[in-house]
Amino acid sequence: MDRETMTNEENYAFDLTGYLHIPGALTRPEVARLNDAIDRAGSLEGMLGWEGDLREPFRDLLIQPQLVWYLNQIVGHGFRLDRAPEILCDETCDTSAPLVGGNEPRDPALAYYYQNSRRFCEGVRVIWALSDVKAGDDGFVFVPCTHKSNVETPEDILTGEDDSDYLFQPELKAGDLLIVGLSVVQGMRPWQGEGPQRLLSYEYVGRGVIRSAGPGPESEKMPVSDRMEELTPEQRTSLYRPGYRDTTPPPTLKTDGETIALDESREIFHPSFLMKNPNSGIDAKEFYFWDLNGYLVLRGIMDEEWLAQANAAIDKFEDRIVVGDELARGSKSLAGTGRPLLGGLTQLPSPYCDSFRRMLAHPAVEHRLNWMGASGGRTGGGTAFCAVKGTSGHSLHDSNEPLNPGRGYIYQNGRSFCEAVTVTWQLRDVAEADGGFACVPGSHKAYYRMPRGVSSCDDHMGLVKHVEMKAGDVLFFMDGGTTHGTLAWKSDISRRGILHKYSSRNFNRSGGDLTHPEKRWGDLVSGMTDEQMAVMRGPDRDVFEKNVPRLEIADGSVVASYERGGALYSKEAPQGPVAKK
Ligand SMILES: [Fe+2]
Repeated sequence: MDRETMTNEENYAFDLTGYLHIPGALTRPEVARLNDAIDRAGSLEGMLGWEGDLREPFRDLLIQPQLVWYLNQIVGHGFRLDRAPEILCDETCDTSAPLVGGNEPRDPALAYYYQNSRRFCEGVRVIWALSDVKAGDDGFVFVPCTHKSNVETPEDILTGEDDSDYLFQPELKAGDLLIVGLSVVQGMRPWQGEGPQRLLSYEYVGRGVIRSAGPGPESEKMPVSDRMEELTPEQRTSLYRPGYRDTTPPPTLKTDGETIALDESREIFHPSFLMKNPNSGIDAKEFYFWDLNGYLVLRGIMDEEWLAQANAAIDKFEDRIVVGDELARGSKSLAGTGRPLLGGLTQLPSPYCDSFRRMLAHPAVEHRLNWMGASGGRTGGGTAFCAVKGTSGHSLHDSNEPLNPGRGYIYQNGRSFCEAVTVTWQLRDVAEADGGFACVPGSHKAYYRMPRGVSSCDDHMGLVKHVEMKAGDVLFFMDGGTTHGTLAWKSDISRRGILHKYSSRNFNRSGGDLTHPEKRWGDLVSGMTDEQMAVMRGPDRDVFEKNVPRLEIADGSVVASYERGGALYSKEAPQGPVAKK
């Protein structure tokens, strides 16, 4: 490899989705040699031990240089093969078996770890495509982003009863390399492609991971000394040694604080402090989707009459639509004209305001806002986004990296803590070809910076999702957590999305009168210096840059700085000294 480390694009893609696709890692002769060996062996198993030269191409792959280079960075140095390689196909896999994996409950031996630029994906499946896999062929499938899921995978996604919004089937060419985290939800579906499916799969784990026992004779039984015979079965259990077939999985000691019992089932016993709350009024699948993707769509909230009323009101005040800035920010694919907006919808004269006022404190919507970020959220009222054919897109922005507490997302102990949610009511259908809202699912948990190509959508790496909606649907997205934006509008019929930006009870994002020290404290601040005034302000706009008056140390003394960076300022942020002399 002529590069020292993976590119930011590769790190970003693996971190977000839990997989990495490396096209053309094997040459045609290398693929032919592997296929030839399989054909000659007439078997789909045990290839590392096949007779004569048949095994050599599989042993070569075990430490293929490009793979070693990637696994050193993804799994960590000292990675090991956990299980003998296998061919994934209908003959060797139970294609009716439920999918496996996911991060809830967490399996520490296969999980994804990231902290201060260090990453350990403790388990990965490495797939070498020995034949092409086209869209719709099925076979090996997985659910991207689930290596970071905080919520248990709903049963019907695992069984395939209702998985269409989640499953991803990679398209591969013979010779491609696919690395998928083992904590990503994955499995097999019946093969629909032409010819046999030939995906050669190796499972690797981190250097210290205990997972499966080896098949060698020495691994069969843990040696037991005479001294151990004198112990109770429970005491012996505590002294087990890992890696033997009779200690894999390890024995379970069930406890309740008073008693202890050896459980022969060997199922994991790991008591939890919390129980699922059946009275939360949270739909499990919605919560799973929200935590996984960073957005959510509620279907059919507005009825025909309501839609007709709202659309008629916008028609009526069409002349008030203001065309704002072009927001493609240099992107080729998003380029176009300025964005048409119609604000002040709840203040329109009666009865035109009615259909927009109904959007405030709507029970179904407010309930979601409550579980997404707790009570106390607020909005400034709705704005209609009325893009016409040729209106530019809005380059994709925001994500979990860099950290932004006031607009981020955290999951903790069964709760979603999302500090900024935008709710968009759809007054018209939005099909894929139309353009409109798009986001990067999983970006609310990103640990790497968004690449420029994703922001511009000019090189989106397949990570940008356009969300199709029907008139009457309501979209929620993490505004600040999830990378989001708009694709250029291509339809002859203009866009009609009503945006309500909700901020949580915890952070201000828009200035306001009470940012001024005198308004907050009254006479108490009279006579204070500029430096003192800087810390007497009320909560102001909270974004990345230091976009408020602030204190710095210069030559050992404290000075107030009003210097402006690139970020958005509230209109209340002063440009210079404020103290009255
Ligand atoms: Fe935005």
